[in-house]
Amino acid sequence: MSLRRIGILTSGGDCSGLNSIIRAAYIRAKTLGYELFGIKRGLKGLLTDPPEYVALNDDICNDSMLTTAGSIIYSDTRAIKESGRSVDEIKSLLRSGYKKLALDGLICIGGDGSLKIVSELLICNGQDLNVVSVPKTIDNDVNYTDLAIGFQTSVEVAVNAVDNITSTARSHERAIVVEVMGRGAGFIAMNVGIASGADVILVPEFKYDIEKVKAKVKSCFSSGKGYCILIVAESVEADDFKHDKNYVDDVVKYTQITYKGIARHIANEIKETGIESRYVKLGHVQRGGKTSINDRLLGSMFGVEAVNLINNHDYGKLLCYVNNKIETIDIKTAVKNPNKTLSKDDPYVNIAKQLGVYVGEI
Ligand code: F6P
Repeated sequence: MSLRRIGILTSGGDCSGLNSIIRAAYIRAKTLGYELFGIKRGLKGLLTDPPEYVALNDDICNDSMLTTAGSIIYSDTRAIKESGRSVDEIKSLLRSGYKKLALDGLICIGGDGSLKIVSELLICNGQDLNVVSVPKTIDNDVNYTDLAIGFQTSVEVAVNAVDNITSTARSHERAIVVEVMGRGAGFIAMNVGIASGADVILVPEFKYDIEKVKAKVKSCFSSGKGYCILIVAESVEADDFKHDKNYVDDVVKYTQITYKGIARHIANEIKETGIESRYVKLGHVQRGGKTSINDRLLGSMFGVEAVNLINNHDYGKLLCYVNNKIETIDIKTAVKNPNKTLSKDDPYVNIAKQLGVYVGEI
């Protein structure tokens, strides 16, 4: 009798922890009597004829997968946009790719944009594919889950970088502005700022007063501290500094924004105080790094539970990590709400304020 078969793919921007999900899914699938096919380059692998995949095995899914960043099956952010096909054509091609591989289920690991694409293209018109989703993004902005895979490693990588920046800021008595990723959400900035002892944390969710930022920087020097660290989320704007917004995906109107480098702008503002300033944009370094222990644990849970859902014929679900437990929510329900953003009531925001960090006008 031939083995039952599950496909797995990674979609959208990569992060550390994806491979730990794939490894766990492989082990669980094998135990339950499934083959696991890694679909290459996200949905692109299913759109291609013949579909592009790798049959995962013990050699590929060895223990180094627990710690290795990136995706061994590659990821793609533009499969739909660049296919040049109509939405109906894409839907039919995806179904045909799924059938050609004789899949019994498909695990889609992705962020908010990928989730919308899955909801729109794979669960529709009563022709639903047996799909389950796993939340992934360093931005941690997927709703309904406390954590998405990749966020915790990304914070750790950024904090390590800021530690290195702090020593040189101290030696040269400078203010250094560090720009971190996160798209429209300030979770990375807030977590990195607190963990690295920053003096100012600017996030897109909260308005700030540049004069108060300058006052805070000056106080770091007048108080005798002698240096200042500012963490700024990439999507923060200023009255005279706006980012360019453009749509890249016709199917789900997913917004892609070109961030223009707010850290440089803030560093220039600080120079007006007479204090020497520098800026650093951490950029894609935050998407790599040895997978943190927490992401290894989370990835292992997500991988195992994703296969369990398919084995239980419980399709159309997004796995969520809530209060230290795995829960599920219908993908169709999950995509109805906007992305998660940092709230004024977030415990970390409260802690930052009590630590004397300037976090904006809240
Ligand atoms: O969504 C993850 C993320 O790393 C964001 O934090 C960042 O703005 C974006 O992706 C960068 O995307 P790209 O790799 O396409 O430049």
